[in-house]
Amino acid sequence: MDGFDASTYGESFADTYDRWYGDLPGLEDTVAATARLAEGRPVLELGCGTGRLCLPLAGRGVVVHGLDSSDAMLQRLVEKDPTASVVVHRADMSAFDLPGAPAFGLAFLAFNSLFNLPSAEAQAGCFASVARHLAAEGRFALECVVPGDPPSRVKDAVDLHSIGVDRVVLRVSRQNPADQTVTGQHVEITEAGIRLRPWFLRYATLAELDAMADAAGFALEHRWADWAGTPFGGDAVTHVSVYRLGTSG
Ligand SMILES: C[S@@+](CC[C@H](N)C(=O)[O-])C[C@H]1O[C@@H](n2cnc3c(N)ncnc32)[C@H](O)[C@@H]1O
Repeated sequence: MDGFDASTYGESFADTYDRWYGDLPGLEDTVAATARLAEGRPVLELGCGTGRLCLPLAGRGVVVHGLDSSDAMLQRLVEKDPTASVVVHRADMSAFDLPGAPAFGLAFLAFNSLFNLPSAEAQAGCFASVARHLAAEGRFALECVVPGDPPSRVKDAVDLHSIGVDRVVLRVSRQNPADQTVTGQHVEITEAGIRLRPWFLRYATLAELDAMADAAGFALEHRWADWAGTPFGGDAVTHVSVYRLGTSG
């Protein structure tokens, strides 16, 4: 999408993010799993947004750093964190360097946020950057949707996102199966006018993710259907993949 860059999503959604996504299910499971996987070591959340996940994680006493490319998202996080319990970094997760940061025991990317990176190269760059910031045998955990079969993914779509007495929000998307991307807009219509919130995703298969992990020095440690650790089966629509550094022998 012309004009779409690393901060466009965050800048477009920051004002409404917590209203629309603040109550997503699975928060407790995510926080419990990430705390457990960190094994007492510092944690880095990539694409941390408004702090939906990293703030409650820090509330458990875990040392947490949050990285995001959007000033507007990070501003919301900081406003919700009067004690500065999360150390924030504004950076592009496809290639980052955090001088002075601790060696992290866990880095994680939830809610499909790896797919915010627009190409396989950018996603592979994220794995490589994460590897450089982890402690020995550190982990990288990803929560992503499992891409469906191509025929169900080739349609353009207009879905109802939400409706109220004073507004309707439509989700308009175009599938580009050749490059595994989806171009979209959330279109919010009110009597005052129309607000566009653009988004762009590049989805990756499990095999691609495992290859990116391998190239960056990780081996797959766990693959679950969710953060609660539900076994991953053929019908799972999401996966949580946990990779570990330097354990492939
Ligand atoms: C779907 S939101 C997820 C926010 C948070 N992790 C959560 O689960 O609520 C994706 C986040 O990734 C950030 N993001 C998108 N592209 C990025 C990039 N290239 N580098 C760093 N952050 C990025 C966005 O600004 C946004 O805050």
